[in-house]
Amino acid sequence: MSPPMDDKPERHITVYVCTNLRVSGSSCAGHKSKAILRALERRADERVVEGHALVHVRPSVCMGYCGDGPNVKIIGGDFFHRVKMDDLDTILDAAEHLIAAKDPA
Ligand code: FES
Repeated sequence: MSPPMDDKPERHITVYVCTNLRVSGSSCAGHKSKAILRALERRADERVVEGHALVHVRPSVCMGYCGDGPNVKIIGGDFFHRVKMDDLDTILDAAEHLIAAKDPA
């Protein structure tokens, strides 16, 4: 007999960090977006609830706002420009609020 299936799909949301580097001109990678990506991944890992990551952080190709990088996009939510290390918790809070709004407990 197989164990009962959890009928509630895992709730999570994806946050993309542009890590594109342009040869000429301004780009997110040129504004240290890879450091933002790594720090955001670590911070999201610290917020894992009951073994499930609520926020999945992924690298992204160019988002078309190269002069305003680093750029971070919450899928289905806010778009952040000129992101700094001080903004990481604000981004994760916004993502988690979006999850809660979509699927209130
Ligand atoms: S390089 Fe990041 S938006 Fe274009």
